[in-house]
Amino acid sequence: GSDQDGEFKDHFTYPPATSPNPSPKPDPSTLVFGKQFSDHMLTISWSAAGGWEAPQIKPFQNLSLHPASSALHYSIELFEGMKAFRGVDNHIRLFRPMLNMERMYRSTERSCLPLFDKVELIKCINKLIEVDQEWVPYSTDASLYIRPTFIGTEPSLGVSRTGHSLLFVIIGPVGPYFATGGFSPVSLLADPRYVRAWRGGVGEYKMGGNYGPTIAVQSEAAKQGCQQVLWLYGENEEITEVGTMNLFIYWTTEKGEKELVTPPLDGIILPGVTRQSLLDLAREWGDFKVTERRVLMKELIDALDDGRILEVFGSGTACVVCPVGSLLYRGQTYQIPTMKNGPEIAKRFHKELTDIQVEKFFE
Ligand SMILES: Cc1ncc(COP(=O)(O)O)c(C=O)c1O
Repeated sequence: GSDQDGEFKDHFTYPPATSPNPSPKPDPSTLVFGKQFSDHMLTISWSAAGGWEAPQIKPFQNLSLHPASSALHYSIELFEGMKAFRGVDNHIRLFRPMLNMERMYRSTERSCLPLFDKVELIKCINKLIEVDQEWVPYSTDASLYIRPTFIGTEPSLGVSRTGHSLLFVIIGPVGPYFATGGFSPVSLLADPRYVRAWRGGVGEYKMGGNYGPTIAVQSEAAKQGCQQVLWLYGENEEITEVGTMNLFIYWTTEKGEKELVTPPLDGIILPGVTRQSLLDLAREWGDFKVTERRVLMKELIDALDDGRILEVFGSGTACVVCPVGSLLYRGQTYQIPTMKNGPEIAKRFHKELTDIQVEKFFE
């Protein structure tokens, strides 16, 4: 194929399936997110002059980068987060990987990095997982986290389209988000002085530059006794996302209907694979109204005051769903009755989605 299709050169190099000195596999119950990595990694280099090189699977190792690399100076960097699961039948499966590849492709276009063949990249990731298959936990609670990353490696300080880049994938086992098995609700700080993303910006792409600046706000939330940030936007204080999760509200509308509502994909929302999956499931159930629309902070506060809020939860690859228990907004703490209400819908989503991920359809 030509570079226009973004195909990798077909010569694929990878070591034998057994590493000469594999690291011991950690006990799934002790895993800390993002700290343990498998024995191998995937790298694919690109240059404007030579196009895509052959994908390589090699021992997990440090990168060697020119200090002027554009990723380090101008955040020409994007990433993905996805998981592979060992099913009850012992088969290893990725969960909806094409949705991640499509999102990565859009981030790549927006970053002026070279386009790639999405199906080819999934094949390379599958090969990496095959090589390190023993790293996929033998547990239906734990999984293998997959971190595709794409960086500009242009060795020049000019702010321009990169002529060198490196796509790499690292993987590592992760445990259950809620260690005790039950849900624990999070507390949120909603402070309209801080904004995660804005219309015309890049909030809908998974670029590293969207994440670094949130850490100071997260620390501010922690200082005020809250666990995560509820991100608001604009003069009307639209509710957008929570921490690094999409946001869902299950409530009774003013007309008395049960409704699940989540903000629409209108530029400032990261299009979550879990968000899409929950919407797909809820529409399939047909048990309540499902709506993608802008929700204002005032609507949430009014509904809380009226006792119409049933459940508020975040959604993401890490946790599937994460219940929200309280909200600190303009100096006032609001209790959110998510746990008191089951949480019926959050639990149902969690069970259905994890059953699909590990192919557990029959109890
Ligand atoms: C800002 C943000 N929102 C939402 C999500 C949830 O997306 P997904 O369900 O694909 O994990 C993520 C994580 O990828 C995120 O970083």
